[in-house]
Order: sequence, then structure tokens, then C-alpha cells
Amino acid sequence: MSGLIPQTFINDLIESADIVEIIGSRLELKKAGRNFQGLCPFHNEKTPSFSVSPEKQFFHCFGCKESGTVLTFLMKYENLDFVEAIEALAKHLGRDVPRERGKRDSAPEQTKELHALESAVQIFKDNLRNSSEAISYLKRRGISGEIARDFGLGYAPDEWQHLSSKLEKDGFSAQVLLNSGLTTTNDRGRHYDRFRGRITFPIRNIRGKTIGFGGRVFRDGTPKYLNSPETKLFSKSKEVYGLFEARKGNQRLDRLILVEGYMDVIALAQHGIRNVVATLGTAVGEDHLRKMYRYSREIVCCFDGDEAGRSAAFRALEAALPFLDEKKRIHFIFLPNGEDPDSFVNRNGSDRFLELVQSSTPGFEYLFSSLGSNLDLSLLDDKVALAGLARPLIDRVNSKLARDVLLARLGELTGLDLSKPQPRGASKPIQVRRDFSQPVQKLSERLAGMLVRRPELLKVLSIEDRDALAALGNESDLFFKVETIISRDPNLLPEELISRWPDAEDVDKVVALANFEEVLGVDEQEIQFLEGVGRWLGLREANAEVERLKKHINDRGEEGTVNN
Ligand code: UTP
Ligand code: MN
Repeated sequence: MSGLIPQTFINDLIESADIVEIIGSRLELKKAGRNFQGLCPFHNEKTPSFSVSPEKQFFHCFGCKESGTVLTFLMKYENLDFVEAIEALAKHLGRDVPRERGKRDSAPEQTKELHALESAVQIFKDNLRNSSEAISYLKRRGISGEIARDFGLGYAPDEWQHLSSKLEKDGFSAQVLLNSGLTTTNDRGRHYDRFRGRITFPIRNIRGKTIGFGGRVFRDGTPKYLNSPETKLFSKSKEVYGLFEARKGNQRLDRLILVEGYMDVIALAQHGIRNVVATLGTAVGEDHLRKMYRYSREIVCCFDGDEAGRSAAFRALEAALPFLDEKKRIHFIFLPNGEDPDSFVNRNGSDRFLELVQSSTPGFEYLFSSLGSNLDLSLLDDKVALAGLARPLIDRVNSKLARDVLLARLGELTGLDLSKPQPRGASKPIQVRRDFSQPVQKLSERLAGMLVRRPELLKVLSIEDRDALAALGNESDLFFKVETIISRDPNLLPEELISRWPDAEDVDKVVALANFEEVLGVDEQEIQFLEGVGRWLGLREANAEVERLKKHINDRGEEGTVNN
């Protein structure tokens, strides 16, 4: 089953499949003009905003902004990865999936890197087998041969060109080794092995391909852990360690436990707890969570019980808010001081660890308890402070239902009634039909869409607004990509914009935005656009303000304990 699937086959598959039939067999669709409509399966809604276009062979949800081809739909709806979705669709159409074999030379560059990384796994494994020192280190840490094999553990001896000389002998070029992150260069351009004198942990992608490594020193030395650098294959802000191994044990993961370290994943596996992943020495971010929520509905994050652990948990919670809804949840475990999951499970056994998982703190509960922890809610002033802290966070939750429940709770705590629409400022006489009660990310996409369809909108912004927007600037953000192109050519038609789009990976989104049927008149569009930008800028400010307030409250709390 190895080998690349030819792109022509994939294109052909998408063209031959009837997107209306495929989606229509999974949810109820009704004809609405040229398109079909139904209730969106990707967020909770009562009125249909999910639209399927047979002409464009494309789906798009006006509510949650999910969009894509029939393959994207299958990936999301059936929880499949790209290749699995191709296989499912091919099976449905009664076709075999062709694979290109033996095309190493003409294959894309990364194929060579993947081969180099796979060869490195083998070499490191062989080294481990022959190093009594490395074996005894793993033994000392309670790791069995079976677990070492499952996780592909290996050993890189403390030599400058051990791996690179072997791989070059096997025909891999110095450039390929550098691109794969296995070697690094010094000032004088000399190439040498990145991992030296370390236990090696292959980092595998969801299909089991090794895309990078972690390495731990087992004599003295710093840093304790070393990761592969950012490469075309590996990005530590997107990857989690152990996801492939967790899925291998169980394709349907009801729950994923998120820990901090490689050794935590491995120690828990050693105790029979296999649904564990780790971030790779970085804070938990949206991309990590997006990946995890594709495979599991519940994530239990495990942090230290100290101040650092609690603030890391809060940041993870903030990053998770856009994903949470009636089904997707996040929970938290706080370990006793000085313990990590590895030491905890070795000291107390798996049952005690699983008890912690069972009694973990649910995320929304944690949100309120943590925001309120230094507040006295019998005081009016602290009620105001809580409302100010909680409101922008609640706004980040995508699910309307979840937001309503959270606002109701905020109401109980503060006496505020947020269940009715809030009156707008008197200075805005014109009522707009749709509001922007969506998280920052989606808001920026809505604005990008307006701009794609009506580039002149850019002109309604003041110089100040444009500067403030530029200061938020994140080049990968769809809005800024659209804005950059349109600033150069303000009269661009949507089709021209699409044809000039620089990246294949999000062109689908732009096509969807271009095809969105605008219901608002020109005036209303201008007002909404202005309002949306204002709200976007305001949200950023509000977030900064929340950070400032939290810090203030924390500082005050710490001073209190010192003085008492
Ligand atoms: P820890 O320092 O908590 O180590 O780092 P650990 O997992 O308990 O490791 P052991 O038990 O001493 O072997 C947690 C994670 O942070 C990253 C690694 O991903 C590590 O697993 N880290 C840590 C680094 O990337 N570099 C470092 O120097 C240290
Ligand atoms: Mn540890």
C-alpha cells in the first residue's frame, strides 16, 4: 500500500463523485435554488446554513465557515485522514487506488527526507541494541523492550558524523539530511549530526511516518531534550507526540490525555495507559488542539499543580475555547507538587492515575473558578471584574448553545442578564441584520469574505483602522492575504483574486468566500465591515486587557500571601 497516489487520480475522483449524493446520504439536504441546503453537521444549529453546490462540487457552512470538497467533507465527517478519505471515496465509486512505485527520483523532495528519517530510525534502533549503557538507562527508567519497540526508541552515539556518514553511504545527499533536520551546520558550513549522545524518540505523523525526532541526554549535558528543527515535514506548534501510537491501539479514541513530556507518554504506556499524547516542549496551541479534536472528543490535560502549571492550564483552556461545544470537551488534572505523570504513575500505579482522570476538572467549571479565584463575588466591584474577564472568553466559544449556557452561569454569578440582545449605542441608527457574535478567527474570515467580494470596502476604513489592523498583522491570516493583494489592485474581481492566490492550501477557502451569496445591501455591507473591523480590533484590545487584569489580580493574590 505504499507509494504516492497520483494527483490526477485524486482530481478525477473528486470530479466523478457527486458531492450532493455523498453528503445527502449522510444528512438531509433540500434543494434551494441552484444549491442544496441542510443543517450543518459541524456545529449545532436549528436553521440550515450548510450549503452544497453541485456545480462547484463544494460545500460551505455560513454558520461555522467549514468548507471544502467532497474529500474535505469525508475527512471531517467520518474522522478520516486524507488518504483514508480517498480510499473511502474510491471504494464507494468502485475504483482501485493506484500507487506510484519506484519513482523516488521524480517524487517530491520530501519523499527523500521521509526515507532518510525512516533509515535513521533503523540506525538508531540498531545502535540501541548494541549499547548496554543506553539499554540500562531505559531499564532504570522502567521501560520494557516491548514499549521501546512500540515507540521506536533508539540511541545516537556521541559522535559528530555517525548517522550522516551512514546515510550518505546509502545515497542520501547532504542537502536531504539537512532538510530532514537530521544534521545541522556550523559557521564554517560543516555538516554534523544533530542528535549525539542521546536516546532518540521518533516523532511520527498520523500515518506513522517519522517526520522528526526528540532526543534525551542520558549522561550529563544540556539541553536535556532536543527536538528536530522546524522543517517542511515537522512543526512543533502543530504536532503532538504519540498520536499515531495512541490511534494504533484504538482507532476510536473516546479520550486523549495530554501531557508535557516524551517520557510521560512512554511511562503511561508502560502502565497500560495508551491514549496519551504530548506537546513537544511548547505551550498547547490551537493547532495542537485542532489536530487532537479530529480524533477525540475529550482532551484531558495534565499539568503540575504549581502556579506555572495552573497558568499553562488556563492558556490551554483559552486556546481550546473555539473548539468546545456540546460534545467536545476539555478537562484538567493537576498533579501533586513536584510530580509529573511519569513519576506519579511509577510511584502510585495506573489505577491512581486513572482516578485522577476520572475526577478531572471540566474546562468550563475551571474557567469560572479560575477567573473568580481572587474575587469576592459578594462585592459589586468584583462582579463587574468577573463579567469583564469572562465575557470576551465566552465570546470565543463557537457553539451558540454553549455560549448561552455560559452566559446564564455568568448571570447567576453577577446578577447580569445577558440572555437578551444588548442594546446598541444610540449613535448607530441603522439596524444591521446579522451580528458578529463569533470568535476572532471566524470574524476575520467573515471580513476577508466581504473583501473578496467587494474590494472597495477597503476604502471605507480610516488610516487609523488600517494601521491598527496592520499591527495585528499575521501574514498567514486569510484576511491579511486578501488585503495585501487587494491593496495593490483595488478593482480586482473575485475570479482574478483567486487566480492570483499564492497558496494552494487555502485557495479552497477563498473560492468558498467568493461564492458566498451576500444578502446585505451595499450600505449595510459597509456598516458591517466597519463594525466588524472595530469589533476585531476591540477584541484584541479586550484580550490584552484580560491578560493585564489577570496579572494584576494574580500579583495582588501573591502579595497577600507574602504579607500574611
Ligand atoms: P521536562 O523537563 O519536564 O522533562 O520536560 P521530563 O519530561 O520530566 O523528562 P525526564 O523525565 O527528565 O526525562 C518536558 C518536555 O519539555 C520538552 C520536552 O518535550 C520534554 O519532554 N523539553 C524539556 C525540551 O524540549 N527541552 C528541554 O531542555 C527540556
Ligand atoms: Mn519526568
